[in-house]
Amino acid sequence: MAATKEQVLASLAAVKSPEGVALTETGKLSDVVVSDGKVFFSITVDAAVVQRWEPVRKAAEAAVRAVPGVISAMVALTGERAAGAARAVAPPAPAPAGGHGHSHAPRGERPVQGPPGVAAIVAVASGKGGVGKSTTAINLALGLRDLGLKVGVLDADIYGPSVPKLLAIRGRPETLGGTRLKPMQGYGLTVMSIGFLVAEDTPMIWRGPMVMSALTQMLREVEWGTLDVMIVDMPPGTGDAQLTMAQQVPLAGAVIVSTPQDLALIDARRGVEMFKRVNVPVLGIIENMSYFICPKCGERSDIFSHGGAHHEAERLGVPFLGEVPLHMAIRETSDSGRPVVATDPDGPHAKIYREIAERVRDQLKLSGAGRAAPKIVIEA
Ligand SMILES: Nc1ncnc2c1ncn2[C@@H]1O[C@H](COP(=O)(O)OP(=O)(O)O)[C@@H](O)[C@H]1O
Ligand SMILES: [Mg+2]
Repeated sequence: MAATKEQVLASLAAVKSPEGVALTETGKLSDVVVSDGKVFFSITVDAAVVQRWEPVRKAAEAAVRAVPGVISAMVALTGERAAGAARAVAPPAPAPAGGHGHSHAPRGERPVQGPPGVAAIVAVASGKGGVGKSTTAINLALGLRDLGLKVGVLDADIYGPSVPKLLAIRGRPETLGGTRLKPMQGYGLTVMSIGFLVAEDTPMIWRGPMVMSALTQMLREVEWGTLDVMIVDMPPGTGDAQLTMAQQVPLAGAVIVSTPQDLALIDARRGVEMFKRVNVPVLGIIENMSYFICPKCGERSDIFSHGGAHHEAERLGVPFLGEVPLHMAIRETSDSGRPVVATDPDGPHAKIYREIAERVRDQLKLSGAGRAAPKIVIEA
C-alpha cells in the first residue's frame, strides 16, 4: 500500500519546530508531494535560523520515513533572507513549462553552493521545449567525456526529466549514510535526475521553492565526487524557475540550443538575455535540427531554413558552437537510450558533437572571469 499525503501530513504534525509548534502549523512547509511511496517537500525558514532548523528537517525526514509505504523522503531546508513564512504559505504561481518569463528576478534566497569537487557547471538551456535540448546535453556531455574530461550530468528539467531514458539508466540511487545520495552511472557519465526519484508519469506542479529545493538537493546532497564539468539539462523556457536556477546555481556558463526557425530563435534570444542578465557567460548557441540529410539518397535539405541560429549568434554577439543535423540516427539512438556519440563514436554525428564539445571546453577557459563561479581547471 502506497502512503497517502494525509498519512504523511499526520506524521509531520508530530514534528515540532524549535519553538515547539507543530511543523504543519508553522507555515514553513511547502506543498508535500507523495508519489509512489516517494515523498518530497521543503521547509523554508529565515536564513538566520537555518542551523536551528536542521534537527527539525532531520526529524521530519525520519517521521516521514517511518510512515508505512514510504520508500524515500527528500526534505530540503531552504534559507531565505527575508521572512520565509509568507513565502512558504503563499508560494509564487508555478511558471508554465516553456512559458515566457517576467523580467523580475526572484528575491530572498541565497545562492546555492556547487558541489565542492566540481570544477565547472554548465547549463544547457533552450527557449522552448522540444528543440532537442536533452539530446544535445547528453551528446555534448559524451563529447566532453571523449576529450578526456570527467563529466557529470544533472537533469534539472523538472517538467520532463528525460536523462534516465536517454542514457537507459534504471533503478534508484542508493543512499549513503542515510541522507546523501549516490549518483547513477551511464556511459562513463555520473548522473543524477529528479526522474530517479519521482515516477515518470507523475504530473507535478512545481512551485518556486520546490524547484530550488529539488535542485539544491541534487547539487548538495549527492556525492558527485571530482568532476571537470557538470552539464545541467535545464527546464525549457525562460520563466521564473529557470531564472532562479540561472541566478542561484554557480554556473560557469550556459549553452543555448535552438532550432533554426524564427520562432525558436526568438525564444533562444530570451534565453541568452536571461543568462546575460544574471551575469552567466553565454558559451554559445547550438543549432539543432539544422538541416536534413535524406537517409536514402544522402541529399541535404534545409527544412527549417538552416543557418538562423548562426546568424542570431552573430547578432547577439555570442559564439556559435555548431550545427547538428536532423537525422533519424540521432532520434533513434536518443530515444532508445543509446546516445549516438557513445554508440557510433566513429560516425559523422559523434564527430559533430565532439567538435562542439571542444568549442565548449575552449569557451570555458576563456569565460572563467565574470562572477563568482567555481574556478575552472580543465586540462586540454
Ligand atoms: N538532431 C536531431 N535529429 C533527429 N531527432 C532529434 C534531434 N535532436 C533531438 N531529436 C529528437 O527530438 C525529440 C525531442 O528531443 P529532446 O532532446 O527530448 O528535446 P527537449 O529536451 O528540448 O525537449 C526526441 O525524440 C529526440 O530524439
Ligand atoms: Mg528534455
